[in-house]
Amino acid sequence: MGNLKRKTILLGISGGIAAYKMCDLARQLVRASYNVKVIMTQHAAKFVGPATFRSLTGNPVALDLFDDPAAPINHISLAEEADLFLIAPATANVIAKLAHGRADDLLTTTALAYQGQLLVAPAMNTQMYLDSVTQENLATLTARGAQLIGPASGELACGDSGPGRMVEAQTLFGIIEDSIQTSDWLAGKKVLISAGSTQEYLDPVRYLTNRSSGKMGTALTRAALQAGAEVQLVLGPASAAVPVDKRLACTRVVTADEMCAAMISFALEANLIICSAAVSDYRPAKKASIKIKKRQSQLGQTNQQDTQVLELVQNPDILAKLGRMKIEKTLKADTILVGFAAETNNLEDNAQAKLERKGADYIIANDVSRADIGFESTENEVRIFSKAAPEADTLLPKTSKTQLARQILQRVYPLS
Ligand code: C5P
Repeated sequence: MGNLKRKTILLGISGGIAAYKMCDLARQLVRASYNVKVIMTQHAAKFVGPATFRSLTGNPVALDLFDDPAAPINHISLAEEADLFLIAPATANVIAKLAHGRADDLLTTTALAYQGQLLVAPAMNTQMYLDSVTQENLATLTARGAQLIGPASGELACGDSGPGRMVEAQTLFGIIEDSIQTSDWLAGKKVLISAGSTQEYLDPVRYLTNRSSGKMGTALTRAALQAGAEVQLVLGPASAAVPVDKRLACTRVVTADEMCAAMISFALEANLIICSAAVSDYRPAKKASIKIKKRQSQLGQTNQQDTQVLELVQNPDILAKLGRMKIEKTLKADTILVGFAAETNNLEDNAQAKLERKGADYIIANDVSRADIGFESTENEVRIFSKAAPEADTLLPKTSKTQLARQILQRVYPLS
């Protein structure tokens, strides 16, 4: 574990036969010098005795909200102490409870109180796993920032064959090691992120906007927080949930002009700037102070003579302005500037041109003509183009926006 201080791994074990695999994982983690704490549900304790985990970890095993009346509030102290929380095996029931914020036992109560990196390894019968309710619950968890591991496919304890097997202890161990070793790599760094859309008003009730849920930007925010950064988010209208964290400041804006002013004011302090917002390129030249009315026509008729011409003027290109500030050395000398490119055609040419035109160090390009990724989706696939080698882009294959966000940060701001 090099010079990293001893980290606490919290293992949440729910009631599946795969609970036995957790004995091996606990042993491997202890051998690698982690402090391992275990919470078991009542059902899990029917598969493997708590005494086994107590012996393997050298720590008491937490089973109940009311285990020890003399102890501090256990679910809060466990949640605060943990550097990483893995729930494995995660049954369909526990996944449903986590997705809906139910907190009716020690494991789910601790999960709700926990604000760090949550890993979830599902394990259940194939039909239960494939059921649309479970799939929706898993999508909810992913959208909120949990990292799903598996399940693997194969023969299940119930005799069925298909997806539902919990991944092996060795795989879980590798993922925990990777997560922990890189967990603090942005500590002490300031990350500035723009996300969501902008709204450009024609009159008090109508506006021009771009499609954007803000999911990629909020996933990047979460990933940066998990990596230890302080994050300033500048968020336009968006449906995605904003994480709650002591190290996050969120400034809400509506128009491109407001977003631009906010981004420029925060840029001077930032080590890494990511422009993931879908900014409106134009705004109406004039905003009417009262609602624009149509000319009335005969009952049931459309007045074909009533046409409206909308005059638009350009909005500031925020990324390009920041690019200019970088060239003019107004930003910190080593600030990394990252933009996004949502393309429907000529992805490669457009992304490479944007590197140049906007003065960005990286452009993250995604193909928004595909229905399975991009807008509003919880998944994405991107190609990263860099100023250093514009021709040699890197493909990050389709995965959840949560995982992708972490991979993007690791590429654009690697551990030095
Ligand atoms: O030119 P285009 O809109 O395709 O460029 C996309 C990138 O530029 C994104 O990173 C987006 O956040 C940023 N952008 C901006 N200000 C604009 C338009 C786009 O910062 N007015």
